[in-house]
Amino acid sequence: MVPLARRLHTRTRAAGGAGALALVVLDDVGKTYRGRGGAYEAVRGVSLDLAEGEFVCLLGTSGCGKTTVLNMVAGFEAPTAGRILLDGAPVRGPGAERGVVFQGHDSLYDWLTALDNIAFGLRLRGLPKRERRARAGHFLRLVGLDGQGAKHPAELSGGMKQRIQIARALAADPRILLMDEPFGALDAMTRATLQAELSRIWAETRKTVLFITHDIEEAVALSTRVAVMTRGPGGTLKALIPVDLPYPRDRTSDGFMAVFRQVHALIHAEIHPQ
Ligand SMILES: Nc1ncnc2c1ncn2[C@@H]1O[C@H](COP(=O)(O)OP(=O)(O)OP(=O)(O)O)[C@@H](O)[C@H]1O
Ligand SMILES: [Mg+2]
Repeated sequence: MVPLARRLHTRTRAAGGAGALALVVLDDVGKTYRGRGGAYEAVRGVSLDLAEGEFVCLLGTSGCGKTTVLNMVAGFEAPTAGRILLDGAPVRGPGAERGVVFQGHDSLYDWLTALDNIAFGLRLRGLPKRERRARAGHFLRLVGLDGQGAKHPAELSGGMKQRIQIARALAADPRILLMDEPFGALDAMTRATLQAELSRIWAETRKTVLFITHDIEEAVALSTRVAVMTRGPGGTLKALIPVDLPYPRDRTSDGFMAVFRQVHALIHAEIHPQ
């Protein structure tokens, strides 16, 4: 059987790149910030199409423009060049079909408990209270915070707040998950557990995921394709590496190591340019 990554890759390519079957299309996207410090070109010429059900990791050094790209797909920032399409229509702002896990852990509502933070989006969707609570409880357990639901954000550690954010995004059941270094603040054990859970949830639900990380091993473990960015200014896509390995991934296998080395060489060249 042809691995999923290759099938998706071939399908989008066969459809003619930026086009027909892709759920999200970034077409020659650029972003120049203009502020008191003058103009800064953060991102330049990024073209990438995400097929439905793909898991793409965006990997690059600090400041290369990863969050900028994600914020544009989320609709929080508008591109200053090129265009972003969702289901063929230009992205004009945020939408419920895109769930975002922000970098850092300060996006929770301070006045709501952990459980109510997770349940918040469900209220907007009109789910009855009992169902909201049950669903929020399920995702609270999933991120390993059973029994912590009554605490407010100020009473939670950084890693706990990060996990509440992840639970909130998953509970809302969006079609597309946009995750900005969601496991960055977690200890190695929790991180490994949540990587496995995310992989399982993705395999079950076939969501489309755009996932940002600095961590090459995490990218190779999770994704169907790794999109490697050049360093800024004007960060752009340097390579798109398909990861045609079966899930769950064996991080000690020759295949895994080979992809790891390939991606590592690309990143290393950005950190230590000739
Ligand atoms: N609102 C803004 N105004 C001006 N410049 C910005 C703004 N947001 C980001 N930048 C600049 O754009 C560049 C890319 O920032 P971005 O946050 O996208 O990087 P990143 O790849 O996510 O980095 P990290 O891995 O550290 O999170 C940086 O040089 C940053 O200073
Ligand atoms: Mg960032």
